[in-house]
Amino acid sequence: MIRLVRCTLLLCLAIPPAASAAPQPRPPRPPENVQVLTELDGQPLRAEMQRIAAALGVKCDHCHVQGNFASDEKSPKRAARRMLEMTRALNARHFPDYGVKEGESVLGRVTCFTCHRGMTAPLTAPPAP
Ligand code: HEC
Ligand code: HEC
Repeated sequence: MIRLVRCTLLLCLAIPPAASAAPQPRPPRPPENVQVLTELDGQPLRAEMQRIAAALGVKCDHCHVQGNFASDEKSPKRAARRMLEMTRALNARHFPDYGVKEGESVLGRVTCFTCHRGMTAPLTAPPAP
């Protein structure tokens, strides 16, 4: 009698709980065409992209083709990659000891915003009064 009960319990345990049949969220795809910000992916890469967009006063589609973030088709994206290289080199050479704080750009002391200030073309001189 006791044996039978044990068996029934084991059978119950063998049946997977219903929740495991539910679809699992897909793991995020790794970036395909990141050449400068190679230490970033997922949410930290998104956050840096949001800072870049805000620094230039543009939306993602200024640089990115709809539905294909990896594409280099748009020239502002190619320009932005050269700017990433320039900014990285500048910080490495002139501000190597700057400690990036939580929520700041990973680039360092000089960021896209330092020059661009919400514009695609930075000013050369202060605007006339
Ligand atoms: C000023 C141009 C610019 C803007 C605006 C911009 N990006 Fe990007 N994005 C880039 C560049 C350049 C890269 C590649 C960086 C590299 O090579 O290190 C990139 C890479 C990416 C990638 C990785 C794609 C892959 O698979 O290689 C994603 C995802 C992405 N951006 C999302 C966004 C989102 C979301 C926004 C808006 C919040 C945005 N970007 C705004 C220039 C931009
Ligand atoms: C040291 C100053 C400086 C920094 C830092 C800088 N830029 Fe620029 N950027 C410029 C100048 C100057 C131009 C040329 C604008 C013009 O054509 O008059 C430019 C042009 C651009 C352009 C082309 C404009 C267009 O039509 O879309 C893009 C895109 C751009 N920068 C993105 C970036 C991004 C992204 C960053 C940060 C990774 C960055 N820049 C950092 C100075 C800077």
